[in-house]
Amino acid sequence: MTPRDLPTLWSRLARWFSGETKAVPGNCVENAPPSASTAKIRDDVDPFSGSATPVVSTDHSEHADSTQAPEQIQGLAQRCFSAADIHEAVDTLISSARLNDQETLLFHLEMATLFSIDSDRMTALHFIRTAMESPVALTRRASPLIVKKALALGHTDLAAEVFIRDLLESSEETYISDKEKQIIKKSYNNMILEKQKKIEHGHDLLLDYLKSHLAEYRDKSGTRKPLLIEIGTTRENVPGQGSTRKIAEFCKNNQLDFITVDMDPHNSHMAAAMFSTMQVPFQAITAKGEDFLKDFPDQFDFIFLDAYDFDHGKHSALRQSRYRKFLGEPIDEQACHRMHQECAESVLEKLSEWGIVCIDDTWLDDGQWTAKGTLAMPYLLEHGFTLLEARNRAALLARQHG
Ligand SMILES: C[S@@+](CC[C@H](N)C(=O)[O-])C[C@H]1O[C@@H](n2cnc3c(N)ncnc32)[C@H](O)[C@@H]1O
Repeated sequence: MTPRDLPTLWSRLARWFSGETKAVPGNCVENAPPSASTAKIRDDVDPFSGSATPVVSTDHSEHADSTQAPEQIQGLAQRCFSAADIHEAVDTLISSARLNDQETLLFHLEMATLFSIDSDRMTALHFIRTAMESPVALTRRASPLIVKKALALGHTDLAAEVFIRDLLESSEETYISDKEKQIIKKSYNNMILEKQKKIEHGHDLLLDYLKSHLAEYRDKSGTRKPLLIEIGTTRENVPGQGSTRKIAEFCKNNQLDFITVDMDPHNSHMAAAMFSTMQVPFQAITAKGEDFLKDFPDQFDFIFLDAYDFDHGKHSALRQSRYRKFLGEPIDEQACHRMHQECAESVLEKLSEWGIVCIDDTWLDDGQWTAKGTLAMPYLLEHGFTLLEARNRAALLARQHG
């Protein structure tokens, strides 16, 4: 195949995806997505037990992953996966607009497979969830692919979620009326939100506080539009993370300015793309957070510190590679402590009088603050700050008054 064959290939892929044809060029007949009635889901997987171990196979035996992408998409994914900088390769491919929405979705599912084979469940989950955000995700052809991919890779909760959403969004007639469907949808969304709430990190603590105290803050701080800064942008689209989107939505709805900072340009790029979709003027800056705060010329009002990871010993090869590439060394516990302390020094100097700081991934262990707050927490507490609340392994502080 030559590059000149690509346009034809893509149009045939698109027709395959839309169900007009059963096969794509090459030997991909077996790889066409199975119909809902004939699909063979791994028979040792109970979709709702959450206990399946991931099995990814390239053969066509009974345990084969029935969601393999056409071989041309597999080839593109394999090339990105083998690149020296995987994120850069993926970003370049996606921004080249060579793939349409359907092909992009298949590509993301294929990336999930490759990371799963590499035992990186977190990044695999990230890619399945990225596929879920596709504009074509909730269609008759795409939903089964996502559900089956999530099942094949052992992400059964996610499979259940997409499956149920697909049923609830479907316009097909069932034994329940549209009105009843709306009631079930509302109840289901509440259940999911409740479940998510339990695993949220520090951004939830900060946003809950701001929801009930923002008006009071505005009264005290005057007419200036408040600014919220996040150090440590979202890097993975997985439950518990996602602070950048949640904070951006809050700032948009409450007329706050927002800047998010990360040392990894891929994360800034993702955030900038999201801000553009949300049509908000927020900034995603690539810089070391400690340097950014040192150089920041103004005051800020609220800050969420969730950057340099603490070393829990389970970071993926991909995460470690980002630290090596952009900070020159793999994740180091002492460096995590120092980085957050440097941020705390700038907070002391530049946070507005009534401002709020939230440090994520910190908790008391035998009376000592640990992880990201090991040095930053005692530093702030010794310099006039007081603890407002600690939960979800995060701490919320403000200056002591009176
Ligand atoms: C735990 S993640 C942030 C998660 C994010 N707040 C969320 O909830 O979705 C930590 C982030 O800090 C970034 N990081 C690490 N060291 C940094 C530094 N010195 N300055 C800025 N960002 C850094 C990493 O690239 C990574 O994206």
